[in-house]
Amino acid sequence: MAQTANPQQQMLYLLERPKEPYFIPKGERGAVFDVPSNDYLTDRFRPLADELGNRFGEEAQVRIPVNPITVPDISLATQLGRNEFFSLFIPYHREMAGRLIDIFMGMRSYQDFLSASLFCRERVNPYMFVYALSVAILHRNDTKNIRLPPLSEIFPDKYLDARVFSQAREEANVAQESSRIPIEIPRDYTASDLDEEHRVAYFREDIGINLHHWHWHLVYPFNGPRAIVDKDRRGELFYYMHQQIQARYNFERFCNGLGRVKRLHDFRAPLPEGYFSKLDNTMASRVYASRPAGMVLQDISRDVDQLVFDIQDLERWRDRIIEAIHLGRVINDKGEIVELTEMGGVDVLGNIIEASILSINRNLYGDMHNLGHVAIGIVHDPDFRHLETYTPVADPSTAMRDPVFYRLHAFVDELFHMHKRTLPRYTVAQLDYPGIKVTSVEVMTKGRNKNELATYWQKRDVDLSRGVDFSPRGAVFARITHLQHEPFVYRILVENGSNSTMSGTVRIFMAPKFDERKIPMLFRDQRILFIELDKFVVELKPKTNVIERASTLNSLTIPWEQTFRDLEVNTPGTGAESQANNYCGCGWPEHMLIPKGAPGGFPCELFVMISNIKDDLVQQPKRQDGCPNAASFCGLRDQKYPEKRSMGYPFDRMPRTGVDTLKQFLTPNMMVTDVSIHHFDRTEPPPKSDAK
Ligand code: CU
Ligand code: CU
Repeated sequence: MAQTANPQQQMLYLLERPKEPYFIPKGERGAVFDVPSNDYLTDRFRPLADELGNRFGEEAQVRIPVNPITVPDISLATQLGRNEFFSLFIPYHREMAGRLIDIFMGMRSYQDFLSASLFCRERVNPYMFVYALSVAILHRNDTKNIRLPPLSEIFPDKYLDARVFSQAREEANVAQESSRIPIEIPRDYTASDLDEEHRVAYFREDIGINLHHWHWHLVYPFNGPRAIVDKDRRGELFYYMHQQIQARYNFERFCNGLGRVKRLHDFRAPLPEGYFSKLDNTMASRVYASRPAGMVLQDISRDVDQLVFDIQDLERWRDRIIEAIHLGRVINDKGEIVELTEMGGVDVLGNIIEASILSINRNLYGDMHNLGHVAIGIVHDPDFRHLETYTPVADPSTAMRDPVFYRLHAFVDELFHMHKRTLPRYTVAQLDYPGIKVTSVEVMTKGRNKNELATYWQKRDVDLSRGVDFSPRGAVFARITHLQHEPFVYRILVENGSNSTMSGTVRIFMAPKFDERKIPMLFRDQRILFIELDKFVVELKPKTNVIERASTLNSLTIPWEQTFRDLEVNTPGTGAESQANNYCGCGWPEHMLIPKGAPGGFPCELFVMISNIKDDLVQQPKRQDGCPNAASFCGLRDQKYPEKRSMGYPFDRMPRTGVDTLKQFLTPNMMVTDVSIHHFDRTEPPPKSDAK
């Protein structure tokens, strides 16, 4: 096994078994940190320093030198116990994590950064530590090119049925590494079909989807040093990425005979959806709480989390935001009026609603979305009388598992749509691309009829060993099952009626053709159900052009290997391949590109548009990092969002007068084709590449 070639990779050992002390050797080769003094040991271990040195020092094959530094003041960050629940949505926790990020970002050299991280690792809450360290690794110039391991490897207990861990321990104890068998996790483990919401559990509980969501929030933290938070159009991207999640979830619901998600806009009505995650948080001492159906939100008063707010606060913030949207302007913290402009308004609103530290007025517009997560997440013990902890919806790494996440975000989404409905509609001139005509659109899946997409189930093995801190060591695999689709190719014919080569942006979207009652949809409803499938730039020579594009090369997903990857293998640390990988780690999972469809075919409409490049492109240097995917949801590192138009164009606005259907919306540079998604209820075994 190759040892890490890049010294910066050593940082990643700190993410291995985060609850285990640093002096226990890490990685396959038993790396040990040579600390400059016993100050790094906690009070518990300091008296044992000599013994520990003898016990663990000798087997080490790799020794990592650690610089002496002035120990940072981490008193604020140590106020949360090592075994407590940590959530970014809780302001007090967020403040502590923000302080840690400040410390990490402020370290002058890589060596000092490593040293400070090691010191903090032993003292602060491990979840908070992993979050703050990940944000710092992603944003520091001296570490931003190293790959972060997926959170599911660091904390597999946030992603997998709790039962797997006791089985894994048993397996590790009885079998040698080479003869261990993967622990099978059934597709249905959180509920039965009695709960109709369970029909879409494969989406909500998909590991890749939850990893994407976590990683997105690492790239776009809403708290911390302003330089990290203040990214180009981050408020707007908060809207667009979550809006697309919502559209995708509704699409899956339609495929499974369920209606659209109902908004959670009445904060006093009972929550009809219960959720029992079966997640155990085995690495901490508390399990994730469960929520039976029918709970009602209560005022929150939890001294332990320094958390006091009323449901009335949420209502006030909601009403103020809605009023601002209808007035078309907000009031900033200096009392000045700021217009919600056609292009920039959604960004301002995104930061207000989320709310990030960029919110223009936190006093007035509050912290609605974050505290919404909290209020729902602690509905079962709002005043801490039962000493209970939170449900997964209060933790960004697990929130998407719970059906109520989508109800909260349907509400958030509606606020953005409310604003978008006040904006000028796109004119034909803003939609058309004179001279360009799309004449044919087809989708081809190998071995299937034209315009047929196919989905099925795929098993995969996920290595747990980096996250479970029991011995004996070595790989232990969990075998999961996820949705998968057969790869396909788009074939698009375009006529360029001019005499010169023209460039354009191809935009591909798909939506269900009928609504939940099986009747054709009005454009104004269908437009917000369109999911983005791809977006790319083409050159069009005069006359006929044939564009063929593989589904795997799209603008939003990353392949499985990028979602899950190994710490020591395939990490040369230099060269284009590893560049910007932390941004590459952000992206919708490729296996969830296409909704499940239905046996016999689920009817959809595939929309293709070629837009005028002059209104699309942002002028900036071309990137050399070999990571072209996923920019639609994740943006580009250190650069502007790679397009000028409003995110969601051309579906983000109400249609022009006279347009009631998708057909009426079309200009010559657009085309719609009927496609159907066929679901085959077969399960493929794990690909060979999974076994290492
Ligand atoms: Cu989110
Ligand atoms: Cu949220």
